[in-house]
Amino acid sequence: MDLETVMDAAREAANNAYAPYSNFRVGAAILTENGALHAGCNVENASYGLGICAERSAAVAMALADPGDRGVQLVAVASPNAAPCFPCGACRQFLREFGCKEVVVEDPSEASGLRSYPFEEILPHSFGPEVL
Ligand code: THU
Repeated sequence: MDLETVMDAAREAANNAYAPYSNFRVGAAILTENGALHAGCNVENASYGLGICAERSAAVAMALADPGDRGVQLVAVASPNAAPCFPCGACRQFLREFGCKEVVVEDPSEASGLRSYPFEEILPHSFGPEVL
């Protein structure tokens, strides 16, 4: 599956964001190691701190869909409000749990409109499940 297809799933998910407080809409799409695609959007709450980011909601969708395919090949993140839109620190750690290899963001300065980052650059020297 090409990166543009994964990013399109993230863009589409951003349309379903529930972000009445920040008005900052985010969509994420995870491509798993077995080639499945799982999307998520941010879902905010009147009790502000309870909101969940798009990346974590995509990871939860992945975990639910198939316990046998929880390896994250890459995550694409899109927002109509910011390009690039990088995952927050909490989401970086959450994706780390599932071995995320690559983060793809929209980047208007690139000819393709997309830019990929190795996960190690996004969250260096990270803590993961193999330590426990
Ligand atoms: N948000 C995400 O969903 N993902 C990101 O990568 C950055 C921030 C959400 C959280 C909150 O609903 C809104 O964007 C503003 O912070």
